[in-house]
Amino acid sequence: MSAPVRSRRTSVADIRALKGVRPIVSLTAYTAPMAQLLDPHVDFLLVGDSLGMVVYGFETTLPVTVEMMIAHGGAVVRGSNRSLVIVDLPFGSYQASREDAFRTASRILSETGAQGVKLEGGEEMAETISFLTERGVPVLAHVGLTPQLVNSFGGYKTQGRSEAEARKVRADAAAVAEAGAFAFVLEGTLEPLAREITAASPVPVIGIGASPECDGQILVSEDMLGLFNEFIPRHVKRYANLGASVGEAAAAYAADVKARVFPGLENTFQPKRGA
Ligand code: KIV
Repeated sequence: MSAPVRSRRTSVADIRALKGVRPIVSLTAYTAPMAQLLDPHVDFLLVGDSLGMVVYGFETTLPVTVEMMIAHGGAVVRGSNRSLVIVDLPFGSYQASREDAFRTASRILSETGAQGVKLEGGEEMAETISFLTERGVPVLAHVGLTPQLVNSFGGYKTQGRSEAEARKVRADAAAVAEAGAFAFVLEGTLEPLAREITAASPVPVIGIGASPECDGQILVSEDMLGLFNEFIPRHVKRYANLGASVGEAAAAYAADVKARVFPGLENTFQPKRGA
């Protein structure tokens, strides 16, 4: 009997090779069923620490723990079989030292089966990115608007408006690519700057609220599906309104329960003939 044929997962090398060939497609996923639905349509799934806000109802991503990322990372790996899966390193688990970063990243990779990690930061994280990549941990970097710095930025603000800010975003992008990141997310920058950075970068630039000219795009799935209404960033295009559908379905179910109407159960609890 021949072994079942399993399609190979996309690798970080495959993602790198897409630069200049075609746009890279990515979405976030936090659960196995959502990963299963998205898997056929994306190049990589990101288990983002945005799950702190979207799934757990926190106001920021800062309270997210390594244990949460491992639980959700494992679920997304089990729910998918062709996309690359990347898991975010949560706030406080990697910034203090490159050794801390390696300990967290290696635990996440070995306990979830994901193929890489994402971390936020530019020049200040370059040494850590080299340390990780040289030790077998592929890194997706994240520069521009980095949500874990919300307290330092004083909110979720577009980065690169002034020439000094633009210089910083440019330097961060160059530093993470030079340090060995296989790609980086560029979030919340003005379009001309994003276009310029994408043209100059040797590795793929994945935009979010940056520019259609980036090498690829990522969105929080619940934002684009209309499932998360607490905070809708300006860059999000809604491709569905599932929040409204869930509300309508719940209302219809409640009406059936109250009216004791259960079409699906009509035959289930009938006494057996002759009983
Ligand atoms: O946490 C996250 O989901 C992210 C993406 C939105 C890029 O960082």
